[in-house]
This record gives sequence, structure tokens and C-alpha cells, in this order.
Amino acid sequence: MKKFNIAILAVVTLISTSAQDLPDDFLSKEFHKERRLLVREKMPNNSVAVFFANPVRNRANDVDYVYHQDPNFYYLTGYKEPHAVLLIFKDDQEGPNDKYDEIIFIQPRNEMAEMWTGRRMGITAVEEKLAFNQVFNNTDFKEYNIDFSSFEKVLFYEFFDDVRDTRDESDLFDLVVQFKQKVGYSKEGALELEAKANNIDLKSLDLVMRDLRGIKTELELKMLRKAVDISCIAQVEVMKAMRSGMSELEVQGLHEFIFKKYQSEYEGYPSIVGAGHNGCILHYTENYKPSIESDEMILMDLGAEYHGYTADVTRTIPIDGKFSPEEKAIYDLVYKAQEAAIQACKPGVNISADLDIGIARKIINKGLVELGIIKTEDEKHLYYPHGLGHHIGLDVHDKGNYEVLEKGMAITIEPGIYIPNEAPCDKKWWGIAVRIEDDVLITEVGFELLSDLAPRTSDEIEKLMQEESVFDKFELPSLGED
Ligand code: GLY
Ligand code: MN
Repeated sequence: MKKFNIAILAVVTLISTSAQDLPDDFLSKEFHKERRLLVREKMPNNSVAVFFANPVRNRANDVDYVYHQDPNFYYLTGYKEPHAVLLIFKDDQEGPNDKYDEIIFIQPRNEMAEMWTGRRMGITAVEEKLAFNQVFNNTDFKEYNIDFSSFEKVLFYEFFDDVRDTRDESDLFDLVVQFKQKVGYSKEGALELEAKANNIDLKSLDLVMRDLRGIKTELELKMLRKAVDISCIAQVEVMKAMRSGMSELEVQGLHEFIFKKYQSEYEGYPSIVGAGHNGCILHYTENYKPSIESDEMILMDLGAEYHGYTADVTRTIPIDGKFSPEEKAIYDLVYKAQEAAIQACKPGVNISADLDIGIARKIINKGLVELGIIKTEDEKHLYYPHGLGHHIGLDVHDKGNYEVLEKGMAITIEPGIYIPNEAPCDKKWWGIAVRIEDDVLITEVGFELLSDLAPRTSDEIEKLMQEESVFDKFELPSLGED
């Protein structure tokens, strides 16, 4: 390996990060180091795994989207900045001075860039705070002298090739190009150098990451519990604050204000706030209805993200605080299906065959027949068009084994019934959309309902909606008329 004797100029004007400026409850460096160790253990003999940071995405012109690190990269490093590469080696590599089994290339510190877009960790902080021994600036990756053909396997994820090339000569685009050259890999999937053809593996790494990330550690659960609690507190407060005449955006804003109040940095996914038939659009994120009507329900599917870990909680409530008979019939049916599926959660249970097909879908179909919405229980219909749930974690649809439940998995249970206008049933059902979504931790013998701070039954919701809210007195001046 080439020795990097890059002189690091002491730039005294670099914007410094003081400890008081940052929260102190992120995942620990020991956590990330242990995760890398576990990846190494699962890697095949004589292999190297290569991970890249997420690309920066441009929103328009001078404005980029808020940067979000690739969850695998974050899980393994704690590094939250772009333009970085991580290599994990199965076996020790010979360095100029000592052996090493992992190396990270990060974006260099830069006075001007940091003044505009924020602090960068730089080499010293990554060594100290993220527990890496081999840290180099990404500008050195090009010269990093590594013979990938000497490994039996080079593990990496297939590239999407949708990364923007900026003027920076060691941005992610360039790092990927440099890596492809080093490893002899071209976009078309054709391997340029026959000698290296057999050692590229685009599949194994995801299986390794899936198995690791699918089982949450205590530290991860600490983050996740916070995210879920915050999301539930927001649901409770909004239930109390709900009034006809509010806009969908306003309701979204109340939730997200509460997220921020509790130091949740982001939403784990675009908030879904759909009144009336808008609730039938499963991923409705426009949230544009200016005035919600008193005889509607509103479906609110939102998740606070706390230090990377996202909740995913959905509640559906009547705007005027009282479910109509039709709304209650559908609501209680979804609740019955959800509750039965939750109660059946335990290690060894199959998510799709046992929980979804065997329990939730059966209850919903039987109920739809009893309500006269479908004719037979095996009738094909689109009233429950999605799966029962998914893992949650660093992604809202997190990596994990989607077949059999195991202790330590965190999943959602989220059945729903959506009856759009013009559906082939009595029109008294039209426009009713209900999803109830809860977050569940699989334990040794069963489950723990993580999202129990937000009421779920129709009776509990009606009762809670009678209570006063801190937002009742939140009045702002109206905008002047033109
Ligand atoms: N909460 C959105 C989804 O699970 O797809
Ligand atoms: Mn979900």
C-alpha cells in the first residue's frame, strides 16, 4: 500500500465543532466498530467489501436536498457526510507501518466549503470519534494502490449510475469511476478484465447487511423507541387539536413541529396526511386540501426520525370526534385484523403466510362480506392492496428477513381498508379510508407494542378527541386580502 504523507495544514480559521453544539446520544463509536467486525465475520474468505456514501441530490439550481447518509454506510461508520468510501477486509492487509483491516476515505476539511455548507469532521475527528485507524481524504483514493484481483471476492452493491459529477475531482462520481477502474468493472455489466471477472460479487453484501440490520441492538432500540414515542405524542396532540377547517398541511405541520420539539431531525419519509378520499391514496404526500370537512376522517401516517431511526405510525380519526356508523364499521374491522395480527407476533411466525394471509386478510375479507362490500371471502378486490408490514430502522422500509420473525426485529403491523369513490359497493362506503399502523418489537416469547402511547380503538380515540389541546389557543394573524 502506498504511504500517504499528505501534509495537513493547520487552518486555524476552520469552523470548529464544540461538544455543546451537538446532541450527545448518537450511536456510539463502539457500536459502529462492532458492526464492522460482524460484517467482517460474515464475509467470505479473502474478500473485501466496499461501501459508498449516498450521493448529494440537487433540488434546483443552487439548492440541494437535505443530505441523508446511506443507511448501510451510517450503520457501519457513523459518518454523516457525503463523498466517502469504506473498505472492510476479511483479512489483515500490510500497510507501510502496520497491518489494517479497514480503511475509510472521507471528504477533506475545507475552509470555504465549511463556511457555506457546514462543518466537516476531517481525518482527526473521524479517527477519534468514529474509531478508525486508517483515515484518508477522498482525494487520496485515486492513488490508493490496491490490487482487487488478489481477492477471491470483491463485494459491493450494484451502482445506479445516477450520481452528478461536480467540479470537485474527488466527489462521489469520481470515487465510483476510480473504483470501477481499479476493480475492472463497467456499467454494462461486462467485466473489462477477464482475470478479475470471477471475483466480483454484487449479491452477498446485501444478505450480510439484511441479517445484521434486521435484528436491532439495545442501542438502536433506544433511538427507535424515542422516534416512536415522539410520533405517538404527536398523534395524541393532533387528535386533541383536530378541527374542521384546518388544512392537511396544517395538520402535517403540527405533527412535524412536535417532532422537532423533541429533537427529531427529520421525518423518516414524506408525511402522509389525507382527509376523506385522499386517504385512499396509499402514499399521498401532496397534503394540499385547504379545508378539512367535519364529516370526513383523516388518515395520518407519519414517522419521526431520531438520529437516523424512524418510526412509522398511522392513525385514522373522525374530524368531528365521532365516527359515523359506516366509518366505525370499517375502523373496527381494521382494528380487529390488526389486533389479531399483533397478538400473534412471536419468534418463528411467518409474516406473510401466518400474519397477513392467515390472520389479517382473513378477518378483513370476512368482515367485508358481512358488511356487503364484497360477495365472497375469496373475491379478488383492491380494498386492502398492500402488505401487512415491514421492518423499521434506519430505513422506514428497513432491511431484514421478511419471512420468519425473530427476537429483536422491529416491524410495523398496518392493515387498511380503502374504499374509493365509484367503488363497486353501496355508495355509503365511498371515500372511507382507514389504516392503523403500529410498531412492534419481537421479544423472546412474543412482542412488545412500541407505539402504545397513541390510542388505537375507536372508543379511546373518540374519548381523547374531547380533550383540550395546547394548540387550541395557538392563533396567528390572518394574511391580508389582496
Ligand atoms: N408509512 C409508509 C409506508 O409504510 O409505506
Ligand atoms: Mn408503514
